[in-house]
Amino acid sequence: MNVSGHHYRTIWVNQADHRCINVIDQRSLPHRFLLEELRSVHDVEVAIRDMHVRGAGLIGAAAGYGMYLATLELQDESAYFSQLEKSAATLLDTRPTAKNLAWAVHVQLDALRSASTKEELVALAFKTANEIADLDAASCYQIGEHGAALIVQISQRKRGDVVNILTHCNAGWLAFVDFGTALAPIYAAHEKGIDVHVWVDETRPRNQGASLTAWELGQQGVPHTIISDNVGGHLMQHGMVDMVIVGSDRTTATGDVANKVGTYLKALAAFDNNIPCYVALPSSTIDWELSNGLTEIPIEERSGDEVKYVEGMSDGEIKRILITPENSPAMNYAFDVTPARLITALITERGMCAASREGLLTLYPEHQR
Ligand code: MRU
Repeated sequence: MNVSGHHYRTIWVNQADHRCINVIDQRSLPHRFLLEELRSVHDVEVAIRDMHVRGAGLIGAAAGYGMYLATLELQDESAYFSQLEKSAATLLDTRPTAKNLAWAVHVQLDALRSASTKEELVALAFKTANEIADLDAASCYQIGEHGAALIVQISQRKRGDVVNILTHCNAGWLAFVDFGTALAPIYAAHEKGIDVHVWVDETRPRNQGASLTAWELGQQGVPHTIISDNVGGHLMQHGMVDMVIVGSDRTTATGDVANKVGTYLKALAAFDNNIPCYVALPSSTIDWELSNGLTEIPIEERSGDEVKYVEGMSDGEIKRILITPENSPAMNYAFDVTPARLITALITERGMCAASREGLLTLYPEHQR
């Protein structure tokens, strides 16, 4: 997608030095556009854990490249695979909720079983990491095409009037390798000349909506308005939202969706107001082993400091400010689960389906047991 008119992906191999992976350091956005170089498994571990890179698809792609960097670090010829499994465990431990991360690490481990020398392992890991990143971008592109059809339909029903779409957090291209999931249909519809406007939930506590979604929509020229997290219900009650589209960090085989905390409340409000609520996701987000999102999806709990402090730009510097009594404790669940019954449909790279086991199996029959 575009940054100041130049095309970027969120992660790429440095063409002058294949031992270096470049990423956009998302901690500085929207104020500064900074790139970072990742050269070791440790660099990737820190970048994912401390959210220099974030979003389900991007942390999957980063973990794929992390496994490639792990092959470059191999030393003990008699224990190559156990060293790789150790790096895999390190990467898996960084963030627990998004399925894409575990998916990518296991894709790498499965691929690497067929290699034995270090040279073979490095070459295979490099190829696989690139394939994981390319697949993520291609899937998101397809999600955009499938989802745009829904927006076109609403636009036609409204005789070309603006289509108002509410989204939560950032499931745009910054959260993936390119295009995004929830925002991909919006970009595709905008490209087709459909009049769209996006309500952007700020998404406390880390404000991925206010800082990242607003920034990337602005870069693509898509009209949008930032709202505080609590406004969505009011807008829906007053006919100011035509549809909700969100992303997913992990979706069960039965269609329950873990996404950024607060998604559940938006889905409830949409349900109560007869507003369609869509979840856009690539199949790397689906956990085919799980059937109950509420009890089975691990929900990341992050530091309470993210609730107590806000970060922003002041006098040309990024500053961190305490907004609560210093000694009050804070709790910070990063995700919640929206039950399948509140979801109108899932939008995947293979098309749309009901949020249910039957629905998902119509698109992914290879997962039939
Ligand atoms: O904590 P983050 O920023 O990594 O959370 C991921 C998200 O951005 C969202 O939950 C998103 O809606 C789905 S993942 C693209």
